[in-house]
Amino acid sequence: MRYHLTSFGCQMNDHDSERMKGLLESIGYRESETRDGADLILFNTCTIRGSADDRFTGNLGDARRIKRENPDVVVAVGGCWAQAQKAMVFEQYPFVDIAFGPGEVSRLGELIARERIDAVGAFSFDGAFSGTLPAKRDRPHQAWVQISVGCNCVCAYCIVPAVRGRERSRTPQDIVDELRALADDGVREVTLLGQNVNAYGRDLPKDERMSFAELLRAAAAVDGIRRVRYTSPHPKDMREDVIAAMAETPEVCRHLHLPAQSGSTDVLRRMRRTYSRERYLELVHRLRDAIPDLSLTTDIIVGFPGETDEDFAQTMSLVREVRYDGAYTFVYSPRPGTEAAERMEDDVPAEVKRERIQALVELVQEVARERSARFVGTTGEVLVEGPSRTDPSRLRGRLSHNITVNFTGDAAPGSLVDVHITGATSTTLTGRQVPAAVPA
Ligand code: 5AD
Ligand code: SF4
Repeated sequence: MRYHLTSFGCQMNDHDSERMKGLLESIGYRESETRDGADLILFNTCTIRGSADDRFTGNLGDARRIKRENPDVVVAVGGCWAQAQKAMVFEQYPFVDIAFGPGEVSRLGELIARERIDAVGAFSFDGAFSGTLPAKRDRPHQAWVQISVGCNCVCAYCIVPAVRGRERSRTPQDIVDELRALADDGVREVTLLGQNVNAYGRDLPKDERMSFAELLRAAAAVDGIRRVRYTSPHPKDMREDVIAAMAETPEVCRHLHLPAQSGSTDVLRRMRRTYSRERYLELVHRLRDAIPDLSLTTDIIVGFPGETDEDFAQTMSLVREVRYDGAYTFVYSPRPGTEAAERMEDDVPAEVKRERIQALVELVQEVARERSARFVGTTGEVLVEGPSRTDPSRLRGRLSHNITVNFTGDAAPGSLVDVHITGATSTTLTGRQVPAAVPA
């Protein structure tokens, strides 16, 4: 039996997809290159913005066609979109056989065995972190490690708490065991994952509790793990002990993705982000004081209900002031059931949203270009990931700062090498390996 999986959305979803693949292969399925050649067509979906829904439902049309040609094919839809739609999945898309939420990945085998499920399951968290299931990793030397799932925040625009549920942390013992097993399997870099990753541990019973700062240090101490990253933190939970753990632990990378969402205190209040522009900037200064040369990236939404020209100008000036190394920028998209969609008018005209996002993207690129230029002429340690995507005779890897480097050299994937940086664009660097490769 063959399966074909299409994954949408964030790293948490990509990771859940690795687990789905691992689980399917453990019960005898093999991966099909094409959707047409599969007995099981599986989607792991996202619903963060309307555009995510559209991208996925476009793909569903393809599954409908295949199913019409071959009614024995099983169509399964997992993840956040399925969770948000609930029973509507089967009403609107009757050719879908199985639907399950992001908390039910471990039940996939059972769902398939039963086949033709015509009612959506309980849509609950089944108690098994996907981190405890077998995984099929795409990257030999890098791994995602789920440390918590769910989110207790109430950001007015965000559908994640509704689809991923309340925050639940894995025990430190579970996480460290997984890290050890990954290191034994050749993994050198791990990214700790959670919807609100730095709130880790607060829901654990006292005798099992470990703070996020302690967990960072514990992860870095695992033999063989050379780099530790994490995503995504909430600025409100970015405490002094976490900053100290980053500053004092060389394995913890010199990069932080710190979603700001807006530079306007007014908008931030209506978004229920619980910090002001000033508090965010003050945090950035403390981070930069403690961790010199830290790279910072962020998420920004434009066109949130009520966003004025002045509010948007504040967002532009935040980008200039923080000097981000990169940013993901989004046009506000009302999500059914969220506070913003239900109680605020989506009053920024589409044309204004378009102008704002264009101006923001240009500014982000300009600042990122200035930032990446600081590496030219320096030598930095790169974790080799494989051949360069554009020129296979060269190598590709990343600095601790999370910027990609394409370089000439002969180091093996998984090793850490020094690379002298000779060129930069806003998103990538070029360089050449300098002698003294450190074995993996
Ligand atoms: N509209 C636009 N962007 C959103 N994000 C989350 N919800 C929405 C929405 N309704 C963005 C936020 C978040 C990122 C993952 O997606 O910036 O950090
Ligand atoms: Fe998409 Fe959010 Fe679900 Fe990730 S958690 S897949 S971004 S809806």
